[in-house]
Amino acid sequence: SNEQTVSITVVGASGDLAKKKIFPALFALYYEGCLPKHFTIFGYARSKMTDEELRDMISGTLTCRIDQRENCGDKTEKFLERCFYHSGQYSSEENFRQLDAELKKHEGGRVANRLFYLSIPPNIFVDVARSASRGSSSSRGWTRVIVEKPFGRDSESSAELTRGLKQYLSEEQIYRIDHYLGKELVENLSILRFSNLVFEPLWSRQYIRNVQLIFSEDFGTEGRGGYFDNYGIIRDIMQNHLLQILALFAMEPPVSLDAEDIRNEKVKVLRSMRPVHIEDVVTGQYKGHTRGGVHYPAYTDDKTVPNNSLTPTFAAAALFIDNARWDGVPFLMKAGKALHRKGAEIRVQFRHVPGNLYKRSFGTDLDQATNELVIRVQPDEAIYLKINNKVPGLGMRLDRSTLNLHYADRYSHEIPDAYERLLLDAIEGERRLFIRSDELDAAWSLFTPLLKELEEKKVAPELYPYGSRGPVGAHYLAAKYHVRWGDMNAEVRPSK
Ligand code: BG6
Repeated sequence: SNEQTVSITVVGASGDLAKKKIFPALFALYYEGCLPKHFTIFGYARSKMTDEELRDMISGTLTCRIDQRENCGDKTEKFLERCFYHSGQYSSEENFRQLDAELKKHEGGRVANRLFYLSIPPNIFVDVARSASRGSSSSRGWTRVIVEKPFGRDSESSAELTRGLKQYLSEEQIYRIDHYLGKELVENLSILRFSNLVFEPLWSRQYIRNVQLIFSEDFGTEGRGGYFDNYGIIRDIMQNHLLQILALFAMEPPVSLDAEDIRNEKVKVLRSMRPVHIEDVVTGQYKGHTRGGVHYPAYTDDKTVPNNSLTPTFAAAALFIDNARWDGVPFLMKAGKALHRKGAEIRVQFRHVPGNLYKRSFGTDLDQATNELVIRVQPDEAIYLKINNKVPGLGMRLDRSTLNLHYADRYSHEIPDAYERLLLDAIEGERRLFIRSDELDAAWSLFTPLLKELEEKKVAPELYPYGSRGPVGAHYLAAKYHVRWGDMNAEVRPSK
């Protein structure tokens, strides 16, 4: 028959990512009716497990959102009935052929589209790509493979991984996830820029003084030290999540919304970037700290982290795009773990109003009077613009106010998890939010020399207390470019 079916195999089904993100996202898609009529989900891993055991394992992780409470139990049951398990070795073509036979039973002669999510350590990506493509590619329908970072740890190892994958898969089959691209406000960046006359004309060196991309977590690497120590915050957050946001923020208008057009522009902007200088980078690592009788551990207290580790858990960097639009505009990135709060945001600080008539009303600090656009990616999604306004009354007192788009006030539905959008796109073959291999190369080219230099020179990160605002060095770095970091804390939360 010409009916379509999709089989989704989560390879590494008992891992953390699978349990925390992938199965719950698949369920949310099912709940919303976004999955095709005929679909089957398979967990694949080495340990022996029955279908029932897999269902037990994942059922605890499936939650219904506030707006999905209706029939939650019923839907959960129905979803679990479509989930199966197959145990096998990751490098065994034979085991994947057995999976193929299982999949066929469920596909029942329909056009069989197959999606593999490699939720496994990167050192076995290529093994699985080989055995899955040889053992269980679809003969009638598409076969796609989702992989997620780390994509190597520098230009060379990333290129090697790409070569390895491309022995068995074409670029069109590889879906590289950067889950920040699936976040609502990151996706909205293009809408904000390209469908509002009031923003895009200002989007250049002529009006923008600096751009800040900030990622902050209020917990450490708890439990992930083993992975993290080999990567560090620059590879974990900056080279991918923050750089992807930067690319979307700074790219030229694409020819169309087509995935290739968008990714062409992203690559162009990445390739226009100046190599990052070590003098333009500050690194930090959190140290133990006792507050209110509670002890917070140092990064090196993690059992899986060597005591003398120099791996940064914090970094700030000044980056520049050497093109006509952005010449001279500092793009400041800051990312850290174990800081005083959790959040991710984009801040756009605009230039001074030339010949401002109201200069006097601002006192000496004109910087405080410039407009600032803040895109709060998470939590408590919002877009707000700081403007100057007259305090009502007979006097002439000016005030900093905000024009505010607070998502929780404006929209009643909960925002879907990034993985839902990305999985849905992969099923639909929409590649816009996935990283093309030349984008990945460009991202690594930008950071690899810096990472090598930091490691060769054994640059010691500046220690900062767990739960603090991070190393003071970040402020000196910003000051060098006449920038003051925006302060997530200082801003009043929009009123409900
Ligand atoms: C991951 C990093 O890519 O992103 C983690 O490896 C980090 O270190 C996580 O905690 C943050 O993602 P989110 O969606 O929770 O902001």
